[in-house]
Amino acid sequence: MKKIVLSGMRPTGRLHIGHYVGALENWINLQNQDQYQNYHLIADYHVLTTSLDTSNIENDSIEMAIDWIASGIDPEKSPIFRQSQIKEHTELHLIFSMLITTSRLERNPTVKEQVRDLKIENITYGHLGYPVLQAADILLYKGNYVPVGEDQVPHIEITREIARKFNQTWGEVFPEPEPILTQFARLPGIDGNAKMSKSLNNAILISDELEVLKQKLRKAVTDPQKIRKNDPGRPEICLVFTYHKKFNADEVQDIESGCRSGSLGCVECKLKCAEKIADFFEPVRNKRKELEEKPEFIKEILINGEARARQVAQATMKEVHEKMKFG
Ligand code: TRP
Repeated sequence: MKKIVLSGMRPTGRLHIGHYVGALENWINLQNQDQYQNYHLIADYHVLTTSLDTSNIENDSIEMAIDWIASGIDPEKSPIFRQSQIKEHTELHLIFSMLITTSRLERNPTVKEQVRDLKIENITYGHLGYPVLQAADILLYKGNYVPVGEDQVPHIEITREIARKFNQTWGEVFPEPEPILTQFARLPGIDGNAKMSKSLNNAILISDELEVLKQKLRKAVTDPQKIRKNDPGRPEICLVFTYHKKFNADEVQDIESGCRSGSLGCVECKLKCAEKIADFFEPVRNKRKELEEKPEFIKEILINGEARARQVAQATMKEVHEKMKFG
């Protein structure tokens, strides 16, 4: 039996290169190993936890699916589907909401952080229950593994607790899933913030063309001690150097020594970086352009993925109902 891998993201429209390095690369790697069956969830209901503006939700989901497929996710192998199109997510969420206390959810560091960053004064019932819906996302498909970043590990722990509680109460239905941590640390934003994010306005998109990359990198924050071209710099604190490490492995040593000795100036270093990022994503951009011209095809991919996911979800809910004696 193949192990089930359930991966998911909130649909934020076009993805940035941090998503690629932090998640997509890992997903593609898992997809290419025969022992895994992958499912890729577009967590559109989860968007409601932080914004009630749903006017762009369908388009954002489609844009994200295009980036997934252009990057190498094969929707034939691994279904891509929207959470909102599969009613079983909400149904299992309701049952799970009885298996965890509010104080346990209030201790969740990921939600605490969001409350602080977004300055939320009164959290909604649904937002507090974010990890409960996520547990339903994972366990509906009996996920064994969930590829995530460090920040999501507390949610996987809550998922395990809920699975255990269900199994103890009504009988064995669910596995206790484990996180698969991404190998690469997050990429910093171009403003030096440790996190790249579209809402922080510091993101480089997978779909950015060379000219846009050049403009964005020109503004990137570098070592403040390297003021003139020939001043020696400290690559270890420079975000442009972090990008070189990922996207310009061949030249990274020369870049490092050039920066340290002062023979390489920031302007030249940034230009090179923009070119390397553009080269790296060129095949993805080309595939993206093809897909953009066929929105109906993308919709079909989703409808197809949803039909496949729904079958699995329905079978799990049947088991759940039987165990619970709901007939
Ligand atoms: N919470 C995840 C995030 O913010 C998104 C998500 C929702 C998810 N459901 C999931 C991730 C299920 C993995 C599995 O990134």
